[in-house]
Order: sequence, then structure tokens, then C-alpha cells
Amino acid sequence: PASTRERPHGDLAVGGVPLAELADRFGTPVYVLDEAEVRDRCRTYRDAFPDAEVLYAAKAFLCRAMAHWMDEEGLGLDVCSAGELELAVTTGFPPERIVLHGNAKSPRDLEAALRLGVGRIVIDSPSEIARLAAAVGPDGHQKVMVRVVPGISAGGHEKIRTGTVDQKFGLSIADGYAAHAIARILDQPQLELTGLHCHLGSQITGVKPYLGAVRRMVGLMSRLHEQHGLILPELDLGGGHGIAYRPGEPALDLTALARKVRAELTEACATAGLPVPRLIIEPGRAIAGPAGIAVYRVLSVKHTGEHVFVAVDGGMSDNPRPALYGVRYAPRLIGRHSTAAPARVTVVGRHCEAGDVLAADAELPADVRPGDLLAVPVAGAYHLSMASGYNLIGRPPVVAVRDGQARLLVRRESLEDIRRRDVGL
Ligand code: LLP
Repeated sequence: PASTRERPHGDLAVGGVPLAELADRFGTPVYVLDEAEVRDRCRTYRDAFPDAEVLYAAKAFLCRAMAHWMDEEGLGLDVCSAGELELAVTTGFPPERIVLHGNAKSPRDLEAALRLGVGRIVIDSPSEIARLAAAVGPDGHQKVMVRVVPGISAGGHEKIRTGTVDQKFGLSIADGYAAHAIARILDQPQLELTGLHCHLGSQITGVKPYLGAVRRMVGLMSRLHEQHGLILPELDLGGGHGIAYRPGEPALDLTALARKVRAELTEACATAGLPVPRLIIEPGRAIAGPAGIAVYRVLSVKHTGEHVFVAVDGGMSDNPRPALYGVRYAPRLIGRHSTAAPARVTVVGRHCEAGDVLAADAELPADVRPGDLLAVPVAGAYHLSMASGYNLIGRPPVVAVRDGQARLLVRRESLEDIRRRDVGL
């Protein structure tokens, strides 16, 4: 985070709080979230996209404090389950500023969305149309969008590319599925189609794919106008804005994105003879990612043939991203000052498989040893939200820091928590 400060003896402080102190107070592994950084990132979005609706993609990381901060900063929420939705609403988050996504919404997801009154539901498959219409009932009313696949390949890894036809999300423009589903939605009087949605993928670092998406989405809007006389007031371009995980890596330039998308949209709509729709964006990673930092304690250091394995007290159960997407992180030693030369090491977790690698080619002082603390920056998005119960080590806590104060947001998962769910014998 921007508030990170070097301290004496090789420690780091975030939000005015020394990380080594947090490790002592809350134990390790611990996830630290810089509240000011989260809020700054929300404001950066609001400034860059002053007339757009900005929805925070809760899948990146959600807890009640996070939902509350988003509310205070004037953002909406993108949720993809009854769980995310209900947790947010318990904080008083206004449901009309929430959008429900999902390629396979469960009956419980739809029930919660309708009961709580979410702003829009994004339809992702033809079978969902009749199901939703029936759930809304003949006298009901629900705003919906349609998730469209524009046919654009973008994103940091094959598993997080969603703009092309060969993946499970959305209805494609090219083979007519999107237009067909839209015609069916227009036949349902209780469903009000407010706009089209697309999400190209995640960890996208260039503006170009978004401009291509604007052209294709407006192309479809233009055909819908010709065929049905339809004018859609909203266009949701999803999220996917890429960030740097290590120094020197590229990140998406939000100001350029905002300016170029606006220009492209204005031009495409003018050509099509359509009014410019209100833009919606759904950043997740770019808000939460850089605001989070994971702190681990080293449990063992082992030299093998070619490698030095530095094993810490967490691993793939709190951060599955290196194992899933081959992402590289830059851990650093904190809490003491070392004058030892830097060495290439492999930082691994404590889980029972060889793929439990947190940082394959980390550079740490050669004298790194058990008891040391390691900080992994850019840990705020898709770490804890993807955490698992593997090996029953318990999921780490989340601590918020701000103005020199730390407070616990989510406590560590205890053996008692695990035991309580286990009701058979
Ligand atoms: N909107 C929709 C409909 C999405 O599916 C997603 C992410 C977002 C917005 C937010 O995307 P973001 O701005 O955070 O890139 N677990 C993966 C990322 C999966 C993203 C899934 N959808 C990872 O750790 O990289």
C-alpha cells in the first residue's frame, strides 16, 4: 500500500502500524488491509469515471467492513451469491445498489435477490429467463441485464478469460444467442431489460480490449434498436483492471481507460444513432489487491540439490493463486535488518503437496531463518476470498489498519469453528 513505510531494524509499517507488531498481536499468518488505501482506490475510480456507476466486485474480497467502506465511498456492489449479498445487506448496504451475477444462480441466490430487492440481476443463460420470470411473479417487477460474450480474448491467464465463446459465461453475439435471449426477455413483462453486460476477463493491463468490447456491444445495441426499437439506458463493461504484483510489472492505466472508453462509446453511439448509455464498471482486484498484505512466519529453511526452500506457516489454503495461475509474488523479510547477500529461494507453504509454492523465485537475504517474518504485498484480492480449509489449518484473520490503529475485522478460524461444523461421529 501507499502508506507503507520503512522502519528501523528492517521492519515495515502499513497504515502507521508496524507489521511485526501485528504479527505478535494477532499471530501469523495474518492479512492486513489498509483502509485508507481501499478508500483512495474507490475515490480514484470515482474521479476517473465521474458519470459511471462503479460496482466493487465483492468476489475479490468481502467482509462487513469492506461493504461498509464501499457504501461510504459511494460504490455499488457486484455479488455472485446469496452469501455475498446477505453479508453486504447485514451492514445496511442499500440493495438497490447491488447487482447479482452468476452463470448458475441457485434457487437460494434468486430467492435472496428478490426478497432483498437487488438493483439488477444479470441473466447469463436462456433457461434463467423463464425461471426468473416465474420467481418474480406476474405482478412483480425486476430490472435485469444480459451477460453478452463479445468475442474478445483478454486477461492475465487462460482460466480468467471470459470474453471469448469457449467458456461457460454469457451469451455470444456472434452466433445469435444473445439476440435470441434478449427477444425472449422482452416477451416477459415483469422483467425490465436495462442494459447489456460483458466481462472480458481479469488482470487485463491494456485499454484496447475494452475499446473492442465497446464497439461490439454498441453494434449489438444498434441491431436491437433496428429490430425491436429498443434503446437500452445502461452498458456494463465489467471489471478486470490489471494491477502490478511485483515492482516493474504493468498495471492498467485507469485515466486512459476512462478517457478512451468514453470517446469510443460516444463515437460508436453517434454512428449508430443511439443515445450514450450510462456506463457501469465492476473493478474488484484493482480496489482490494494492492491494499492487502499477507504476513507469514518462517517455520523451516531447507537446502536441497538446487533449491533453498523457505517454508512459512500458511500456503495454498490462504493463497491458491500461484498454484492456479502461476502468479509470481515478491515476498520480503520484515522485522529485522539483514546485511546478508540476497539469495534466490523458493517460498513454500505448509500444506501436504509439492505444488504448495507461494513464490517460486523469491529474493531474500541468504541468512533467512526460522522465526523470521515474511510480508507478501498485493494480497488483498482473491486470496482470502478463495481460501480453503485444506489440511484444517484454519483460515487467517483480517486486520484493518488506519492512522496508527489496528482492528480485527475477521478473526482466525479456530479448531473450535472447524469442530462445530463437524456434527457426525
Ligand atoms: N465482474 C464480473 C462479472 C466478474 O466475473 C469479475 C471477476 C469481476 C467483475 C471483477 O474482476 P476484477 O476487476 O477483480 O479482475 N480468481 C482470479 C480472478 C477471477 C475473476 C472472476 N471474475 C484471480 O485470482 O486472479
